[in-house]
Amino acid sequence: MMAMRSIAVVNEKGGSGKTTTAVNLAAALGERDRRVLVVDLDPQASASKWYGVKEPRGRDLLDVLPDDGLDLTPIVRPTDAPGVYIVPSSHRLIHIDKALARQIGAEVLLRSKLHALQTFLEQEQNIVPLDAYWGELERDRVSFDSEQEAAEHYIKRIGELQRMVSPFDYIIIDCPPALGILTVNALAAAQAVLIPVEAHAICLNDLDALTGVIETVKARLQPSLRIAGILACRVNRTRHATAAVEQLNQRFPGLVCRTTIRENVSLAKCPSHGIPITQYATNSSGAQDYRALAEEVIGNNESEDANDG
Ligand SMILES: Nc1ncnc2c1ncn2[C@@H]1O[C@H](COP(=O)(O)OP(=O)(O)OP(=O)(O)O)[C@@H](O)[C@H]1O
Ligand SMILES: [Mg+2]
Repeated sequence: MMAMRSIAVVNEKGGSGKTTTAVNLAAALGERDRRVLVVDLDPQASASKWYGVKEPRGRDLLDVLPDDGLDLTPIVRPTDAPGVYIVPSSHRLIHIDKALARQIGAEVLLRSKLHALQTFLEQEQNIVPLDAYWGELERDRVSFDSEQEAAEHYIKRIGELQRMVSPFDYIIIDCPPALGILTVNALAAAQAVLIPVEAHAICLNDLDALTGVIETVKARLQPSLRIAGILACRVNRTRHATAAVEQLNQRFPGLVCRTTIRENVSLAKCPSHGIPITQYATNSSGAQDYRALAEEVIGNNESEDANDG
């Protein structure tokens, strides 16, 4: 069993805090010296944009997922957040249903690609295959004004790529607001599901539907899948929000995260700055709350590993 823990951030409901959670939990884990890969499975590319990462110019997820010969490795990008890497989304992912329609085992394609990536990074004599990146570097180059600028870019980029030499401790998958093939791929690739809910707009029936889907994926595709937690987001000081969190705890005992994420204006402003909240407003309540969530995640996952022997 690989040491990596993968967490799918899922909620069919739009605007529930999935991307905010994926991006900032990843950064807070990175701050704690964990190596984290964010996989942006949303064709809207919100997580990629938040990290200031552009769509891959060459092959992207839509090419890689259904093709046995292609590897995720060349599309992994470093971000400006320490320890955090990303598989960027592509708007082409809206065509995923068609692309995967005739694929055998379409639901487990992401899982096998992630396993292959981790296995590659775990190899003791793992030398980053610069050849694989050469096309990328060449493509980058055409947009430079001078040789000097291009050379500086190469050196920086090769340095970044060479740092990518050991496996990830956490893989965090940001899902689109739908329970389609992309989200099912995320669930089948995950060990745990984190479900952010907007505290003032909780719909318990929607959550029942989601936990039903999780049970089905568990039964058919991924027996070790579990719910990492339901995470109350945008919790403000109103009595309504407090009551909503209480209601969650009653309906889903033991499944609600200890951490709650407060409503925080810095979190709402942050996405246009290309960095996570831990760097944008390092002392904000948003940064504190996502650090607390990272702590909770580390506690839950890494002590279990110790218990497992
Ligand atoms: N704790 C918070 N405080 C203030 N604003 C927040 C907070 N969490 C999320 N938001 C805002 O709520 C909106 C939705 O959040 P987010 O994009 O993370 O949700 P999502 O579930 O990823 O949405 P989608 O389903 O469209 O992918 C965004 O405008 C975001 O800035
Ligand atoms: Mg989102």
